[in-house]
Amino acid sequence: LPLEPGYPQPTIHTGAAHDPYESYTAKWTRADARQIKAMSDPNVPTGANSMPSALTMPAIPVSFPTIGGTVWVWDTWPLTDADGNQYSYNGWDVIFCLTAQQNAGYGFDDRHVHARIGFFYRRTGIPESRRPVAGGWIYGGNVFPDGASAQVYTGQPYTQQAEWSGSTRLMQLGGNQLTTFYTDLAFNRDASGGNISAPQATITKTDGQIHADFHHVWFTGFTTHTALLQPDGVYYQTRLQNEFFSFRDPFTFHDPAHPGQTFMVFEGNSAGVRGETPCDASDLGYRANDPYAETVDAVNTSGAIYQRANIGLAVATKPDLSAWKFLPPLVSGNCVNDQTERPEMHIVGNRYYLLTISHRTTFAAGIDGPDGAYGFMGYGIRSDYVPLNRNSGLMLGNPTDLNTAAGADYAPDPSQNPNAFQSYSHYYMPGSLVESFIDTVQTRRGGTLAPTVQVFLRGAGSSINLGYGAGGLGGYGDISPNRINIDFWDL
Ligand code: FRU
Repeated sequence: LPLEPGYPQPTIHTGAAHDPYESYTAKWTRADARQIKAMSDPNVPTGANSMPSALTMPAIPVSFPTIGGTVWVWDTWPLTDADGNQYSYNGWDVIFCLTAQQNAGYGFDDRHVHARIGFFYRRTGIPESRRPVAGGWIYGGNVFPDGASAQVYTGQPYTQQAEWSGSTRLMQLGGNQLTTFYTDLAFNRDASGGNISAPQATITKTDGQIHADFHHVWFTGFTTHTALLQPDGVYYQTRLQNEFFSFRDPFTFHDPAHPGQTFMVFEGNSAGVRGETPCDASDLGYRANDPYAETVDAVNTSGAIYQRANIGLAVATKPDLSAWKFLPPLVSGNCVNDQTERPEMHIVGNRYYLLTISHRTTFAAGIDGPDGAYGFMGYGIRSDYVPLNRNSGLMLGNPTDLNTAAGADYAPDPSQNPNAFQSYSHYYMPGSLVESFIDTVQTRRGGTLAPTVQVFLRGAGSSINLGYGAGGLGGYGDISPNRINIDFWDL
């Protein structure tokens, strides 16, 4: 790797596989993550994109169409199996989205405590060019019966209860049994939004059935919600160790190298009391005598110790997936970033791509990178993961000027690129396609599905296909199945 002046060498990672049950956690180090800024052009005009175009999602026009209906949508996932295949059900495409009611007395930025898993459907097999401009999705309502997800917190004090991201699995080819894994949240907040007590987050499972006729799609079941996991404080930070902890976004998968087992990756934080758990030399990852290395003391006193993201791993201990056991985290980003969200395991031959999403504003002091998708490549579920693209970890960022202030999606900085918050919550699909939702373009808020893009993964690198769609932007909300499932009993 060429060494940019002023930047350290990245940590050496081999990608070598370890046993999934082994106590080994790969590090996304500061030496790695500083390669993001090393790829940024310091001389672009203020507010332009300073990052390489191969790692940047093209700008979404401010005139973007919206999915319509009465809800905002953000994190979205299709109906899949544990190998990442996406299914049409009896002639319908189906997607699951975090949703919040519009015109219900709160704004887009307060949606999180009101989140419900909703669903949309559309006819399978219509070419994108003949669909309505926003994809032609029909809003079907909430997936779970009212109050069902609240049963996990029966008898406990809370002021709001919400359903956060996860995944929905078709459990039976030729049938209609589904299992949803999601994050069940309970908040206990005062009128100004402060915590009376820290939120609770429980990775939860619920089973149901999908149905369709010639007119619509609907669900039954999802009445019993089984709590699976809460942080243990050993591998995964608890609400008592840090009231701002992250513990969410279960994604279950099968590994051809471990037949008969079901694994789950999820967003966590490294255990330890907030602000009292220092980083060590392995979190920094500098090579000996690197002139651009930092000292452990300097990093720990910079404020970077507040950022302790990890990507967790668990394994099912019962065949009906109703009991799970924590394994050590797969990757940590201690003193690097605080959030590695919606992790996804994407296996291609002998390569394991561990993909995630993160924010510019959750990077630790001294580290910078755009909002977008990040990723790692190894040769097993648990590996000495190589961060994608020159060991930086960046896979696909929003157009961002890393030379100017970040601002916020609700308060864009006038000198920042107007598309720096254009989309988030990227999800990698078959065909190298990536869907996400629109957050903010210029000052227009989204809450709708973004254009699908195509990102090729090659070795420990990635590149957006700018020949896909219009200048790299495909159809809005183009989330299409690669498999067809028919349940003849339900027809
Ligand atoms: C990502 C995310 C997820 C979480 C949800 C909450 O956009 O932060 O980690 O499940 O949004 O709204």
